[in-house]
Amino acid sequence: MIKETFTLANGVDVPKIGLGTWLIEGNDAENAVKEAVKIGYRHIDTAQDYGNEGEVAAGIKASGVSRDEIFVTTKLAARYKDYAGAAEAIDESLEKMGLDHIDLMIIHSPQPWDHFGSSDRFFEGNREAWRALEDAHKAGKIRAIGLSNFAAQDIDNILSSCTVKPVVNQILAHVSNTPWDLIQYSQDKGLLVEAYSPVGHGELFKNEQIAEMAKQYGVSIPQLCIRYDLQLGLLPLPKTANPDHMKNNADVDFVIADKDMETLKNMAPIEDYGEASAFPVFQ
Ligand SMILES: NC(=O)c1ccc[n+]([C@@H]2O[C@H](COP(=O)([O-])OP(=O)(O)OC[C@H]3O[C@@H](n4cnc5c(N)ncnc54)[C@H](OP(=O)(O)O)[C@@H]3O)[C@@H](O)[C@H]2O)c1
Repeated sequence: MIKETFTLANGVDVPKIGLGTWLIEGNDAENAVKEAVKIGYRHIDTAQDYGNEGEVAAGIKASGVSRDEIFVTTKLAARYKDYAGAAEAIDESLEKMGLDHIDLMIIHSPQPWDHFGSSDRFFEGNREAWRALEDAHKAGKIRAIGLSNFAAQDIDNILSSCTVKPVVNQILAHVSNTPWDLIQYSQDKGLLVEAYSPVGHGELFKNEQIAEMAKQYGVSIPQLCIRYDLQLGLLPLPKTANPDHMKNNADVDFVIADKDMETLKNMAPIEDYGEASAFPVFQ
């Protein structure tokens, strides 16, 4: 499954499961990526804001697998809402990673984190940041460009003025919190939806109904949750630095029956992400 691909609207292939690297720092990030690539992962998700782009790239180099076989995503930090700042930040990512191109770069959020969820949608700033991504794409620095945490109105803002269409929207999407309308809207506009926090940032381990269903299938909770996203046509990005967990998450060649998918689709949402509620994306 980790070798299977989705094809983005611009013809670029992206492996169906990516390794999330948020909150994996320093040597741990390098080792995690090296191990993941050895296990067979060919898609790694990082971000400027994770502070580990250099280590992620070092892990890819240390794996011994050719750079061209690995799909690397990074995210333009949410604070860049002007052309010059965004253009400089894109070049900084390339420099930090020591790469001549990035496979996918996405705007991390339509709003800077301290404005996340506010009524100010930063429409003009996002069009400027997008123009910088378009120019980097046209210059061959980035193979595909996209969005993250973009609502319908934010997507429309980009589509209204772009010369290169976005091909991805990376959003929070997991069992018990699946934003049906936004997924449909994104897909209707030609965007592949990537599902971040597929295990609910770990919160889904507390759900007894999911635990019971996972047991019936003879799989782990993360396997059930990852398979759920895949069966919805979403690209899951499970995070782990543990090689056993990486192997487990890649082993999802089973099928969740329709009636169980219905149960998972209708599961009560997580009310509170615990300590993670401090992060804007879980508020
Ligand atoms: N675009 C955005 O704004 C955004 C926001 C959030 C996340 N993301 C992306 O999505 C990725 C994943 O989201 P996330 O980090 O919030 O959390 P997640 O993948 O939903 O859950 C991670 C948690 O699940 C555990 N886990 C994973 N696989 C496991 C397994 N097989 N067995 C046991 N435990 C397992 C991990 O523990 P161990 O580490 O101990 O394995 C960790 O505690 C991020 O790393 C990032 O790349 C993007």
